[in-house]
Amino acid sequence: MKHLVAPSILSADFANLQQDIEMINRSEADWVHVDIMDGLFVPNISFGFPVLSAVKRHTEKPLDVHLMIVEPDRYLAQFKDAGASNITVHFEACTHLHRTIQQIKELGCKAGVAINPHTPINHLYDIVDDIDLVCIMSVNPGFGGQKFIENTYRRIRELRILAQGRNDKLLIEIDGGVNHENSIDLLKAGANVLVAGNTVFSAKDPIASIRLLKDVSPF
Ligand code: DX5
Ligand code: ZN
Repeated sequence: MKHLVAPSILSADFANLQQDIEMINRSEADWVHVDIMDGLFVPNISFGFPVLSAVKRHTEKPLDVHLMIVEPDRYLAQFKDAGASNITVHFEACTHLHRTIQQIKELGCKAGVAINPHTPINHLYDIVDDIDLVCIMSVNPGFGGQKFIENTYRRIRELRILAQGRNDKLLIEIDGGVNHENSIDLLKAGANVLVAGNTVFSAKDPIASIRLLKDVSPF
């Protein structure tokens, strides 16, 4: 399949969020990546339900919601109601990950698991059949504009091997420090969803930046 591009609105202009959402509507972006941070799981606080609902009112693209929060089970239904198409929880934040994944699916959302840079990929061994997406963090979560961690390529290859024959449709999303230089190697390693915050929103022409990320071909 052709890879997907998901601009992360963490780097958008929150005072002009509607404009940035409309820009994404006009672009070739596939999803809008929305980062929810609670100040506990990560050392930052982003935004919650009212902002997510406002984004939903203006977007024409599915919302890819990345929960960087403790005890996400408490809020899954509310995220669905606020407009989430995909809900991704952190491996490190879920004691009963299997149950959490089932709940996301019962809500009718795509279910994702995000994994921090220090967590071994093989910890996903017993959940990989049950999920639609793995979000490999290529920075430590919490902030936009950080430096890409190089061992991500090896981690993508490990995950593709782990999922082979068991979940060949698994979406492998890369989040953090994705840019126009590393995107091709990420796709070659087996990724098929690119999240980009800083690369898109600090560009003079964000629509062109999204197009460039879409045009990358690993072949
Ligand atoms: C980081 C977030 C990312 C962030 C990526 O915790 O999960 O989605 O917005 O931003 P860039 O692309 O600027 O690294
Ligand atoms: Zn994210």
